[in-house]
Amino acid sequence: MFYEPAKRNHGLPRDPFKACVVPRPIGWVTTMDAAGRINLAPYSFFNAIASDPPMVAFAPGGFKDDGALKDSLAFARSGGEFTCNFATWDLREQMNQTSAGLPAGENEAAHAGLTLVPATLVKPPRVKESPIHLECRLWQILDLPPDRNGEPNNLVIGTVVGVHIDDAVLTDGFVDLKKIRPIARLGYMDYAVVDTIFSMQRPPGGG
Ligand SMILES: Cc1cc2nc3c(=O)[nH]c(=O)nc-3n(C[C@H](O)[C@H](O)[C@H](O)COP(=O)(O)O)c2cc1C
Repeated sequence: MFYEPAKRNHGLPRDPFKACVVPRPIGWVTTMDAAGRINLAPYSFFNAIASDPPMVAFAPGGFKDDGALKDSLAFARSGGEFTCNFATWDLREQMNQTSAGLPAGENEAAHAGLTLVPATLVKPPRVKESPIHLECRLWQILDLPPDRNGEPNNLVIGTVVGVHIDDAVLTDGFVDLKKIRPIARLGYMDYAVVDTIFSMQRPPGGG
């Protein structure tokens, strides 16, 4: 089959795009606006985009139910920083609960029974229960083309200035993903968990 997204002519029961680009890591983003209000929300349009300096990006899309911009976008713009926490198999339910559309400034972490602890270099706090946190300074927010309803899409790009790794998830100095069991977004309402790991050497010139 072939379809053109602008024409929505896939003929399938659900738009397949997000089921094709998988698995997507989940950036579980904490932000704080200039007034000190805190927000925590998961973003699967999220990834690392450079390693030196390390940079990450997440993409808030659409308005909230009340017609305002998503808090993560508004707060990152206002506070100029964000912290990425990582979702694990053990934290899957709490992560999901933090996507609830609570009023701006209402604490999603408390709503999900999570504990926030201070970050070291930035103001947005860390989710204590998560084993890895990236403290980020906002680099740039890009305006992406709006959706068909005129709702905004943005790409929030940050430089990672601090990294916390729980010593308990290190084995012989390596991040042990079998201990972390990260979860990732697939299409539809599906998720994956990193349970099987394999290694491959690159050919000469493979970078
Ligand atoms: C696993 C998961 C991934 C999500 N990924 C995105 C995303 O990439 N972009 C987005 O705009 N919303 C995404 N959402 C929905 C937001 O988390 C939700 O709209 C949340 O309320 C964010 O709004 P806030 O920043 O105003 O708190 C995702 C939700 C879940 C559960």
